[in-house]
Amino acid sequence: MASALQRLAYGAAQGLRVSWYYGQKLVAASPAAPPPVPIAEETRAALPDRARLLRDLGLLFERDWRNIAAGLYRLPVDLIPHPLAEWRRSRRFFADLESVEARRRANDNSEILRQVPPGRYPRYYLQNFHFQTDGYLSRHSAELYDHQVEVLFGGGADAMRRQALVPLQRELARRGVRGARLLDIGCGTGRFLREVKSNYPTLDVTALDLSPFYIAEARRNLAPWSRTNFIAAAAEDIPSPDASFDIICTIYLYHELPAKPRRRIAGEIARLLKPGGLLIFLDSLQHGDEPDYDALLDRFPHGFHEPYYASYVRTDLAALFGKAGLAAESRELAYFSKVATFRKT
Ligand SMILES: C[S@@+](CC[C@H](N)C(=O)[O-])C[C@H]1O[C@@H](n2cnc3c(N)ncnc32)[C@H](O)[C@@H]1O
Repeated sequence: MASALQRLAYGAAQGLRVSWYYGQKLVAASPAAPPPVPIAEETRAALPDRARLLRDLGLLFERDWRNIAAGLYRLPVDLIPHPLAEWRRSRRFFADLESVEARRRANDNSEILRQVPPGRYPRYYLQNFHFQTDGYLSRHSAELYDHQVEVLFGGGADAMRRQALVPLQRELARRGVRGARLLDIGCGTGRFLREVKSNYPTLDVTALDLSPFYIAEARRNLAPWSRTNFIAAAAEDIPSPDASFDIICTIYLYHELPAKPRRRIAGEIARLLKPGGLLIFLDSLQHGDEPDYDALLDRFPHGFHEPYYASYVRTDLAALFGKAGLAAESRELAYFSKVATFRKT
């Protein structure tokens, strides 16, 4: 059980975190730069205001703390960040921002397509998602990515990812850690797997991503732990035998996929899960999940290069995974995200 001291440390650390990242968000959104796609007055009126967003961010942290206090998962891995490393990352983030803004103004999302020879990656992947430098295909991008995401969500991204630890805890309490195998598809830099290993150091985990640069970063981030495996491959065609995993996670992957890969990857997940195995899905809210946020979900892909987001927010996930043989089991909203589980029948 958590002590009063831990509660104090958690509260202070998250307060500092929000000031740090939300502050950078405000500085980055320079008032001098007009929004790339003008906002119609009626859209602006429908958007939740800053006070509402900050209140909901506060609710996310309250819930995160309640989960920790209830023993569902441990305090965050980087509760006490390294100030010098944070400062360096922020400097790099701001140094890179100018080229991100230049791409945004020019609506240039295909710089990476011009740089990478055809054949190795699917065409839809070769885009500068979020207008980020090098798309997903450089060490520079992999080193900046987590910082960019934290700034976007005002310091709440890790807390949203941690909500996937709740169904994970339920599942591992039921089946036991010993012998269980977990796969994280589209693992990025291993941000979620760090929290998984901090809670379950002996769990066998596999990190899979299409970017060899993000997989290299995930290796560095997961170096303190053993029983970690890494695969640089497309999620559409995973080089692992049928029924080789008990639990599969996918975090912030689906909103970046066109409809066809969405279906193919759902099929791969069903193939790779053992009968009775669990998919833990975490991604953006969808239309109707939190009606007050619908206008924001419509606005989000403009100026942020998310070409498949509008269709993702209208995708029936229960039908998508249901067709692949995975039955919807639970669903919880967490600020801009939701965590849902599906079981292989
Ligand atoms: C928005 S990021 C999310 C990363 C990470 N899960 C997180 O929590 O931040 C999407 C990730 O999915 C990967 N990705 C996109 N399409 C993929 C595919 N077809 N196969 C494997 N990985 C893919 C990208 O390289 C990127 O690392």
